[in-house]
Amino acid sequence: MTQTTMIPPEKLFAQVLDPTSRANPYPLYARLREKPISVQEDGTYVVSTYREISLLLHDPRISSDERKGTHPARTQTETAASATPAFIFTDPPEHTRLRRLLMHQFTPQRIADMQEYIEQTVNALLDARKQEKQLDVVQDFAYPLPVMVICRLLGVPPEDEPRFRGWSSALVRTLDPTESLSEAEIQQAMQSRTQLLEYMKQLSEARRARPQNDLFSALVAGDDPDGRLSDPDRLATMQLLLIAGHETTVNLITNSMLTLLRHPDVFDRLRRNPDLMIPAVEEVLRYEPPVQFRTRTTLTDIPIAGVTIPKGARVVLLLASGSRDPARFVDPDRFWPERDDNEHLGFGGGDHYCVGAPLARREVVPALKALTRRLQAPRLVTDPPPYRRNAALRGPEHLQIAFDHIS
Ligand code: HEM
Repeated sequence: MTQTTMIPPEKLFAQVLDPTSRANPYPLYARLREKPISVQEDGTYVVSTYREISLLLHDPRISSDERKGTHPARTQTETAASATPAFIFTDPPEHTRLRRLLMHQFTPQRIADMQEYIEQTVNALLDARKQEKQLDVVQDFAYPLPVMVICRLLGVPPEDEPRFRGWSSALVRTLDPTESLSEAEIQQAMQSRTQLLEYMKQLSEARRARPQNDLFSALVAGDDPDGRLSDPDRLATMQLLLIAGHETTVNLITNSMLTLLRHPDVFDRLRRNPDLMIPAVEEVLRYEPPVQFRTRTTLTDIPIAGVTIPKGARVVLLLASGSRDPARFVDPDRFWPERDDNEHLGFGGGDHYCVGAPLARREVVPALKALTRRLQAPRLVTDPPPYRRNAALRGPEHLQIAFDHIS
C-alpha cells in the first residue's frame, strides 16, 4: 500500500476500495477521521466518526433506496435489483411494514429452536476433518455453516443446499455497491437471481399446499393481523435473508478466528473461560467487522459537522471506522473482549439495524467455542491471509490453520 500519509484526503476512499488495502484498512480510516465528513473526488461523502455515523443512521432525511439517488456512480445493485427491492433498500413507511411482517414470524423462539441443530452441525463439520492436521476455516467450516442454518430455518430441503450456496455467492457481490463487477459476473448474478426466484416460487407453492414448521410456511400462510406480504415482497424478503446472512456470518467466524490466533493471551483465556466468547464476538464486531460500510442517499441538504451534504449525494457510512473512533472507545485499536462499553456499529443502527443479529450471535458463539475447544495447538499458516476483493463485506478468502489434532 502507498504510504497512508501521502494520500490526499479526497483520494482516501478510493484507496480503501483498492484491494491492496484489504488486509489493513484501519490506517486509512484513521486518516479519514481527521475530518468527520470528507468529500471524495467522485462526489461521494464519506462519514468516518462514530457520532456523525450514529446521527445519520437515525436521520430520516437519508435514504436506503438507491432509486432516489442522482449520483452518477450508481451501483451494481441497481443493475441486479429486482423490480421489487428487498426491504434493506427501502425507506419508511414501506420499510416499516415489510420489516414488521417478517419480524412477526422471525421470532426469538424460532431462533432459539435452532440451537441444537447449530451445535450438531458445528461438531459434524469438525468431525469430518478429524484425520487432518490443517484446515481452511473459510471453505471447510465458516462457509457451509450459515447456509445450512438458513436453509433449515427457512425450510429449504438439505438436498437443495448446494444449489443455494452457488446462488448465494453469485448474488452477494451485488450487495457491494462499489465493487466493479465484470460483465460476466453481472450476468451470472442475474442468472442466479432468476433461478433462485424460480426455486423459491416453487417452494412457496409446496408450502402453501402442505405447510411445515418453518419460516417459509409461516410467511406463506399470511395469517398476520397486520396484513400479508405480497408474493413479490415475500420472495424479495426470502432472498434478502439468504444473502444478507451468509457472507456476513462467514466473515464474522473467519475474522474472529484470525483475531483470536493473533492474540494468544485472549485465546488462552477463552479456553479456560468459554463464557468470555460472548463479549469476544462483540469485540470482533467492533474491531474486525464483516460489514465495513453501508451506502445511503440524501433526500435533502443535510448540514452536519460543519459541512452541508447536498440533496441526492451518495453517502458512505464507514461503520468500521466509527467503531475504531478514539473519541468513542478507550484504546480503540486494542482487541480487548473485557472492555465495559462496547456499543459497536457492527450490526448498523437505527431503522435498518440487522434483523439477523440474534441468529448470527447464536451461530457464531458456539462455532467459535467449538473451534477453540477442539483444535489442539492451532496456528496460522499465512498471516495476513489472502482477502476477498469486496471492500464492504470484508473477510479472508481462505484462512489456513495448522493444529496437532482435533479432539
Ligand atoms: C442488516 C450486519 C447477519 C439479515 C444489516 C446491517 C448490518 C448487518 C451492518 C445494516 C444494513 C444497513 O444499515 O443498511 C450483519 C452481520 C452479520 C449479519 C455483521 C453476521 C455476523 C445476518 C443474518 C441475517 C441478516 C444471519 C438473516 C438471517 C439482515 C437483514 C438486514 C440486515 C434482513 C436488513 C435490515 C433492514 O434493512 O431493516 N446486517 N448481519 N443479517 N441484516 Fe444482517
